[in-house]
Amino acid sequence: MQIIILCLLILISDTSENSSALYVVNVERNGKIIYTWKGNQRNTHIGLYDRQTKQNEHLYMFERDLHIISCSVNSERTLLAVSFRQYTEEERVSRLLQSVSKYLTLLIEIHPINNVRVLKAVDSCVRVQFLYPDEGRCTSTESRLLLASEDKYIEQFDIHVVAEEEHKVVIQNSGQLPRARVADDLIWAQWDMMEQRLFYIVPKESRNTLKCVQFYPDENFNSVLESHLDISVHDTRLKLVNFGYDYCQDREVAPKSLNLQVFTSKAGGLCVCCSLASDIPDEITYSIYFLHKGYNKTFTVSLERAETHQLKEVAFLNLDYYVAAYLPGQFLHLLNIQHPDLLCYSLFLTGEDARVDMLPSCSIQSPLVSTVLDCCAGSIYAVSISDTALLQFLRNSKQDSERLAALHCALLCVGSTTDLETQIIWWISENLSTCHTFDPIQEFIIASLYCRMCPEMHNLDKLLPYTSLLDWIGVIPGVTCATDIISLPILGVQNSKGFWDKLNSNLESVKYAEPHLHYHNNVLRREWLNLSEEKEERRTTAYLRNILENAKKVLSHLDTWDCEERLTPLFQEEDYQQQLLMGLMVSQLKDHLMRHLQYVGKKKIDQIVLDYVANLLNLIHRMMKEVWRRYELHSCVFCFDKRGSAAEFAVFHIMSRILEAANGMCLPLPPGFHTLHLGLGVRCLPLHTLLHYIDTGVLHLTEVCVRKLLKDLDNTEKNEKLKFSIITRLPEALGQKVYQFWNHPVNANFIARKYVKLLLQKLGNGQCSRPVPERHSVPVEFLPLNYLTNTLAGIENQGLHPCEKEDHVNTRFVEETALRHTMMLLGLKYS
Ligand SMILES: *[C@@H]1O[C@H](CO)[C@@H](O)[C@H](O)[C@H]1NC(C)=O
Ligand SMILES: *[C@@H]1O[C@H](CO)[C@@H](O)[C@H](O)[C@H]1NC(C)=O
Ligand SMILES: *[C@@H]1O[C@H](CO)[C@@H](O)[C@H](O)[C@H]1NC(C)=O
Repeated sequence: MQIIILCLLILISDTSENSSALYVVNVERNGKIIYTWKGNQRNTHIGLYDRQTKQNEHLYMFERDLHIISCSVNSERTLLAVSFRQYTEEERVSRLLQSVSKYLTLLIEIHPINNVRVLKAVDSCVRVQFLYPDEGRCTSTESRLLLASEDKYIEQFDIHVVAEEEHKVVIQNSGQLPRARVADDLIWAQWDMMEQRLFYIVPKESRNTLKCVQFYPDENFNSVLESHLDISVHDTRLKLVNFGYDYCQDREVAPKSLNLQVFTSKAGGLCVCCSLASDIPDEITYSIYFLHKGYNKTFTVSLERAETHQLKEVAFLNLDYYVAAYLPGQFLHLLNIQHPDLLCYSLFLTGEDARVDMLPSCSIQSPLVSTVLDCCAGSIYAVSISDTALLQFLRNSKQDSERLAALHCALLCVGSTTDLETQIIWWISENLSTCHTFDPIQEFIIASLYCRMCPEMHNLDKLLPYTSLLDWIGVIPGVTCATDIISLPILGVQNSKGFWDKLNSNLESVKYAEPHLHYHNNVLRREWLNLSEEKEERRTTAYLRNILENAKKVLSHLDTWDCEERLTPLFQEEDYQQQLLMGLMVSQLKDHLMRHLQYVGKKKIDQIVLDYVANLLNLIHRMMKEVWRRYELHSCVFCFDKRGSAAEFAVFHIMSRILEAANGMCLPLPPGFHTLHLGLGVRCLPLHTLLHYIDTGVLHLTEVCVRKLLKDLDNTEKNEKLKFSIITRLPEALGQKVYQFWNHPVNANFIARKYVKLLLQKLGNGQCSRPVPERHSVPVEFLPLNYLTNTLAGIENQGLHPCEKEDHVNTRFVEETALRHTMMLLGLKYS
């Protein structure tokens, strides 16, 4: 299935039958598309298509058959700049037109059609481009026009217009138009129409330097960037990118000419992509300079079927989050710009997945984000990633790297919708065990959280983790990649907003920060374990109170979200451990953000942190709800009178994996999780497995579940065995709370236990009031006796030996004696 889908953008209805095909010649900043066609008398027409209103507008007509090279209209649509070829070389020789220049560049008043001015009449090719002020601004009396010449310079004309009678707009200055040089001696230039900036390369000594000029709406232009590139350029003719589209010339593109493009992303990414000549026939090489990260990566792809007649040139497309390197019939590499460090965050597609219908194998350009122009046919398309195809790709994937790349793309780039998220959860729940190098549950939680949180504030993307996977050493079949450190670009902008500010902060974090600024939970785990072990009486310290207060805030914050009905019994009980973890996470995440976002107010950070932890719990809840839906479980999973079904068993397994995923990253679980998990365990597992899970700490004995179990189960032999096994595993404090729910002689054990304890306390004048350390999974033989011996041993360990003279009289002796005596009374043989 094709991952990339195209949608034709221009729909023109009013061209008559005799006219020729349309060619797109330019796309202006407001998204309007300029196109030309030949009319009946071989007239050359120029039209404008508005993507928003889907309206066409006729701009101008030449009563000649002209080859338009470049064309631009100002934002008020009062002036049209056109550059065209007057004659071909052959015509010139044959018709003795030596005195006539080969190319002509005109500035035409079109509101209404009026004067025409010649801007250039030269033998070298010229491209024109009006500057567009802020998109919101209405009309202005000043237009600025860029003119790029094959003679390796770019200049800017200032054109003042005045409105004469009845909206007639004419150029004010009758003499020479004021002009300024923007760049000289360049060998390559690219116009970024959306952001109104010009990238260009000048050879400097032995290296090439990439520069950028930013045009501001009111000021003049400023040079804002300089960066060295280690790209060798053999062809020194000027190459222009996105200065309109001259389909005739672009079709004749020399195979050895420089194929280089700059791409920027909203998040402050700046990449230079170029394809490199390779002498090996079945191999292709391209290189991406991640200027915002400080490295370049060179990819080499071995081609399956090397077809020599095929143009071996990679096309680069801008999809904002990704740059696509595309070789028709071979591969489509979606290169992640935001997180380029791990290869498994980029999708490398071949075969059917890599096919892009309608895109020809000749010259392609990407004039705008998510737009592609077929320079041969002159048509323009919107490009997007199909989430259906992405899901299909995920389902068919054979490698972990593919799965990770697809998950990453779906969760972070495509902007996951509820439906897509549901599909992903279902995939995860069914295909958990196919992933070996990463945990898809962890990846889902971390990536979804990142995607939900980052838009909240600038720079948060550098502080929150976006993946559960910190290292990946796998390979992607068919591609090799070499990474080199490069020098960082020098920015000449200060206090700027938008892209340059984001790029600047990206560069700052490469320059100064530890590579992993992302929040990490290893401190959290240590602190959590420490606090969990705290004794009851220490739980009242201010520190702990504060932590638990945090957790309360998270839970009540979550309550204010109007979310769908909750899965019982989640969020319906207290879970001290999980609340501790939530509270700690709040406090540590807050510290982390405070450290790096000093200019942000405490209130805002508190808000972000609460959102983060609440979203985390909500995601886990959402995941469980979807799994419930998928397996059609009902609330009866929490009754103990029946055995669980196969679906319940599957869900029990998924819950165990969620638990494992959360433990692995020290993420809090919604309170009630353990109750539900244990409930399913009791229904689904055979007794010995259940007990094994309890003893190994997978299942937790929660008060709610144990109480229900004791209350609801009758005293058949099997149930008694179960209840007895559970009772003996309860920590003492919990045991005290629930014994009353089981009306059974076994309770005598506990009454006896308590009695011994009280008695001993009296005896020792309170010296053994310290509770005996709990022993989990005690070998259960004779409970009151075990308790007694434990308690005695505790006293012994304090150094209180009542009978110091008689060495052999100790706890062990008491235990042995008691057992022997019992055996004798029962008439059993004691060995
Ligand atoms: C799980 O993977 C298999 C094959 O790997 C696929 O056929 C199936 O559709 C996947 N499940 C879901 C729910 O996507
Ligand atoms: C990548 O950068 C390194 C270091 O500057 C340079 O040596 C290498 O030639 C670059 N790779 C490409 C393909 O330009
Ligand atoms: C546990 O935390 C307390 C209080 O912060 C501290 O005094 C103690 O040293 C910590 N113990 C361990 C084992 O880290």
